[in-house]
Amino acid sequence: MRALVIFESMFGDTRTVAEHIAAGIGAEFSAALADEAAGSPAEVSLLEVSQAPTAVPEGWDLLVLGAPTHAFGLSRPTTREDAAKKTDAELVSTGIGIREWLAAASVTKGQPAAVFDTRMDHPKALVKLDHASHTMAKALRKSGARLVADAQAFIVVDTTGPLAPGEAERAHAWGRALAKAAADAQ
Ligand SMILES: Cc1cc2nc3c(=O)[nH]c(=O)nc-3n(C[C@H](O)[C@H](O)[C@H](O)COP(=O)(O)O)c2cc1C
Repeated sequence: MRALVIFESMFGDTRTVAEHIAAGIGAEFSAALADEAAGSPAEVSLLEVSQAPTAVPEGWDLLVLGAPTHAFGLSRPTTREDAAKKTDAELVSTGIGIREWLAAASVTKGQPAAVFDTRMDHPKALVKLDHASHTMAKALRKSGARLVADAQAFIVVDTTGPLAPGEAERAHAWGRALAKAAADAQ
């Protein structure tokens, strides 16, 4: 089983969530392999978006995309400039964002996929406006991918983080659930 996790992150929170998701996927793949007499080794690749190929090669059992919510949606060059002003530290993603990656991306028809975003905790009425993960899901479906799970949002306590308590564990558990869903989708 092979999974590719691609993330965009300004301050490191989405990267942390992606790392926990990747670890959860890896744990589930390994457990599934241990139950089988034979099987190819499990592989989980975690890539920052500007390092990720836009032509996703065939053979990945699962593709996961993750991005921070900026101005209710995916980041743009202007919102990334705003992000840079909020910290003295170097940003994690300094090249393209997931929006630009998706605009150039091609995936194999039927590619099993899932998406997540990070965002702040808002009153319910405002949460409805946030659409970063929905935009990713829509674009992936349009390119022929098959979503194997509902989009997930992970909460940060402030703009520059950190993650809210329990979110790292939830990301790991979601990774495990995604690996199972990808295996069932085969
Ligand atoms: C320019 C900018 C706009 C943002 N807009 C939103 C927003 O509309 N809704 C929201 O919930 N969070 C918003 N945030 C907070 C981000 O979601 C938060 O910075 C992100 O989840 C942190 O992840 P990262 O450390 O991976 O960048 C915004 C942050 C920045 C820098």
